[in-house]
Amino acid sequence: MAILKIARMGHPVLARPAEPVADPTAPEIRAIVEDMVETMIDAPGTGLAAPQVHIPLRIVVFFVRKERCTEIPGDEPADLTVLINPELTPLSEEMDKGFEGCLSVPGMTGNVARYRRLRYAGYDLDGNRFEREAAGFHARVVQHECDHLDGILYPQRMDDLGELGFVEEMRKRQIS
Ligand code: NI
Repeated sequence: MAILKIARMGHPVLARPAEPVADPTAPEIRAIVEDMVETMIDAPGTGLAAPQVHIPLRIVVFFVRKERCTEIPGDEPADLTVLINPELTPLSEEMDKGFEGCLSVPGMTGNVARYRRLRYAGYDLDGNRFEREAAGFHARVVQHECDHLDGILYPQRMDDLGELGFVEEMRKRQIS
């Protein structure tokens, strides 16, 4: 197990599509996932995608704490989830805005529109395909992490960069 270096916005590994994992059960994939989880917990972060640790493979890890879930029906907490070769399907056209941060864009936060509800599917480390439906914050986390696999960082999803700023400044703005 090791804590990996996190790539920051501007590094090319964050800007290009990641490759599908040929065999989710391969020992080297398990080792990558273990390091990703350790890195995410150390950071700390709520999710991490493999390109963020300079590994251009379609793997994300995340968890959803109950306190972060919204009132939107279907926004449920999730234990640590390993999602390999994910597929996302929005379940409606509805979008919600919410502030996001990213370990690759340290110190900053921005207001991003995401699909309110979606279905996601992928493989776990045993090679089993699983599928879930999610909404609200849970759906937001999945969209954010899976965007990393397509070389997209959250500022690229923003329609108003006036809503991007340093966390400390944005907190002051919310209080005033
Ligand atoms: Ni991120």
